[in-house]
Amino acid sequence: MNGRSRTLAALACQPIDRFPVWLMRQAGRYLPEYREVRAKMSFLELCHSPEQCTEVALQPLRRYPLDATIVFSDILVVPDAMGADLRFVAGDGPSFGRPARDAAAAAALHDPVELDYVYEAVRQLRAAAPDHCLFGFAGSPWTLFCYLVQGEAEEGYPAAMAAKDTDWGRALLDRLTDAVTVHLKAQLAAGADVVQVFDTWGGLLGRTEWEEVSGARIARITAELREPSVCFVRATDGRGEGLATALSVPAGTDLGALRGPTQGNIAPEVLYEDADTIRAAVRAAHAQLRGRRNHVFNLGHGLTPKTPPEAVATFVAAVQELG
Ligand code: CP3
Repeated sequence: MNGRSRTLAALACQPIDRFPVWLMRQAGRYLPEYREVRAKMSFLELCHSPEQCTEVALQPLRRYPLDATIVFSDILVVPDAMGADLRFVAGDGPSFGRPARDAAAAAALHDPVELDYVYEAVRQLRAAAPDHCLFGFAGSPWTLFCYLVQGEAEEGYPAAMAAKDTDWGRALLDRLTDAVTVHLKAQLAAGADVVQVFDTWGGLLGRTEWEEVSGARIARITAELREPSVCFVRATDGRGEGLATALSVPAGTDLGALRGPTQGNIAPEVLYEDADTIRAAVRAAHAQLRGRRNHVFNLGHGLTPKTPPEAVATFVAAVQELG
C-alpha cells in the first residue's frame, strides 16, 4: 500500500497494512526550510503562490514517511474572497479590515471570487505527490463566522456569540455554508482525495446549540460531497460523529468511545517531550482503539512552531512500529 491507498482504506474501514499517519500543520514554522520561504514573503503572499504552496507542503514529505499531505492555504481565505479583507500582522494572528459586525456589513459581502489560486495549488500538489493522500480543507461555517464577525481572534468570540441569534447572523451562516460547499467541491475537482472541515470553535457552544448552529450546517456540506470527508471538532465529547466520513478529535477525547473512522487525539504538546514519552502517547492512543483499525494517527490540534523537527520523526516512526 502507499500512503494514499492506506489512508483511504482506513477511512473506508477497509484492511490496512499499517496505520496511516500525518500531522495537522505539518507544513509550518517549526521547519527551518519553511522559515526560509517565509523570510522572502508574507504568509498571505505564500498562500497566493501555488508554486510556493506546493514547495512548503512537500517539505515535511521530504523529511518524514508521512501518508498524507494537505494543501497549503488557510481557512480564512474564504471570507477574504467574500470581501472581508484578511490581514495577518506578525505576532497578532489574523484580523479582517471589514469584519461583519452588523447586518449592513454582512450584506456588503459578496460570493467568493478569486480562489483559483487554491485550486491551482491543489493541482500542483496532486502532481507532485501522487502517492500521498491529498487533503483539501475549509473552516466550518460557525468557525469562519467567529472570525468574520469578531474581526479577529478574541477569547470567547462575544460578538459572534451575540450575532448567531439574529436574522442577519443566521443568513450569514447560511451564506458561509454555501461558500464552503463550493470551495470543497472545487478542491475535490482539482484532485484532492479527501476534504477536512475545521470546526475549531465548535466547543464554544453547548452540545445542543452546537448541533443546530454548527453541526447541521456541516451535515449540509458533507451531504453534497461524493468523496470522503473528515470533520475536526475541537470538543472532547465526541460531537460530530457521523457528520462526515471520519471524526477528527482533540486531545482528551477517548477513542474507545467512538466507533470510527476517527483521526487524531494526541496532544501537540507531547512533541515537546522525550522519545519515550512520545512513543508512550502513541501506544496509549492505540490501546484506546481496542483492536479497531479504522483510524488515522494525527495530533489533536495543529503542530506548534516550538516543536523540534526530531520529535515529528519519533512520532511517525512510533506509529509505523504499531503495524
Ligand atoms: O499543514 C497544514 O495544516 C497547513 C495548512 C493550514 C494552515 N492553517 C496554515 C497556516 C491549515 C489546515 C490551517 C487551518 C486553520 N487556520 C485553522 C483551523 C485549524 C486550527 O488550527 O484550529 C484556523 C483556526 C486558522 C486561522 C489561522 N491561521 C490562525 C488563527 C493563524 C495564526 C496562528 C498561527 O499559528 O500563527 C493562522 C496562520 C497560519 N495558517 C499559519 C500557517 C502555517 C502560520 C503563518 C505563518 O507562517 O506565519
